[in-house]
Amino acid sequence: MSKSETNFRRLIVEKPFGTDLESAKKLNLQLLNYFDEDQIYRIDHYLGKETVQNLLVTRFSNGIFEPLWNHNYISRVEITSAESLGVEGRGGYYDNSGALRDMLQNHMMQLVGFVAMEPPVVIDANAIRNEITKVFQSLRPFKENMIAKNVIRGQYSESVIKGEKVVGYRNEPGVDQFSRTETFVAVKFFIDNWRWAGVPFYIRTGKKLPTRVTEIVIHFKSVPHHLFRKSSSSGNNQLIIRIQPDEGILLKFGMKTPGARFEVQTVNMDFHYSDLTDTKVPSAYERLLLDCMQGDATLYARGDAVEKAWEFVQPIINAWETNPEIPIFGYPAGTWGPEHSDSLIKGAGWRFPCKI
Ligand code: BG6
Repeated sequence: MSKSETNFRRLIVEKPFGTDLESAKKLNLQLLNYFDEDQIYRIDHYLGKETVQNLLVTRFSNGIFEPLWNHNYISRVEITSAESLGVEGRGGYYDNSGALRDMLQNHMMQLVGFVAMEPPVVIDANAIRNEITKVFQSLRPFKENMIAKNVIRGQYSESVIKGEKVVGYRNEPGVDQFSRTETFVAVKFFIDNWRWAGVPFYIRTGKKLPTRVTEIVIHFKSVPHHLFRKSSSSGNNQLIIRIQPDEGILLKFGMKTPGARFEVQTVNMDFHYSDLTDTKVPSAYERLLLDCMQGDATLYARGDAVEKAWEFVQPIINAWETNPEIPIFGYPAGTWGPEHSDSLIKGAGWRFPCKI
C-alpha cells in the first residue's frame, strides 16, 4: 500500500513515542510512507489537559509574566508529576518501560516545552510545535559521565501505607523479581538558549509517591538587597501552576507580619480553576479527539519534536545500560522517592509538601 492508495485523511497514533530514539525514528518513517505529517495525530494526553493549555494563556495573554519569564528573574524551574498509584496490573508493560520512557520522555518533556517556549507568532499547530521543537533542540545534551550526578533513578520497595502492607515493585505481577526498571526518575538539566541561560530545570516523576500531583514551580530570584527580616516561613517568590488535581495557579509573595517590627512572611494568592466555571471541562482525550475531527493538530506531538526529545533522553538510557554501577536507589512505597533526588537541588530541595 502506498500513500496515494490510502483514502484515510487522518491517523491518530496512541503511544507514538517508540521505546528509544531508533524505534521512534523508524515509526515516524513508517508512518510517513502512508501519511503526510499534517495527517498524523500523535497523542500525548498531557497536551489535552486543560491546565497545560492554560499555561499558554497565562504566559501569553498577560503582560505581567512574560517580562519576568527568563534567566534575569527566574532562579530555577521545578516540575513534579507524582502518582500515588503503582503499576496497577500493567507490570508486564511497565517493566520494559520504566518512568523515563513512560512519563518523562513524553508527558514531562511536553510540559518543559510549554514552560520554556518562545511566544509563537500565532496559535496554530505549526507555530506552537515549531517553538516546542526549538526548546528540545536547545536542551544541553548529557555526556555519559554527567548521568550519575544529574539523573537519579529509584524503585519502590515494600512498605506500610495507612496501616496496609504494600508490595514492593519487584513483587508486582508481571515484574521480574530482579528488575532494575526505575519507578522514579529525577533529572537536572539546562536549556542553552538566550532566555534560559544558566537556569537549572528539575523534573521528577514517580509511582507510589505520597500523593497524585502534577505541578510546575517557577522560582523567582530574590531581591538584590534584603531590607527586612524574614520570618522562618518566608521564602522567595514562587509561581506554582497546578496541572492536576485541583487545577489552578498559586503565587507566593512576601507581606509584612502584623506587629511592631518589619518582618516578612510568605502569603498565598491562590486561584482555583474550578471557581471559573460550573461547566464540565472536557477530559484530555475528549478534547484531543474533537480537535482531530476538526483537523487541528495544535495539541498533538509532531514527529521531529518527538525525535528531538528522544535525542535528549537516549544518552540516559545508554548510560544506564552500559554502566550497571550507576545506582538504582530503593524508596519505600508512599515516600517522595530516593533521598538522593533531594541532593540534585542544592540546599533548597524540592517544593515540599506539594499541593499547598
Ligand atoms: C500514561 C502512563 O501515559 O500516563 C501511565 O502510561 C501514567 O503509567 C499516566 O499513570 C499518567 O497520566 P495522568 O493523566 O493520570 O497523569
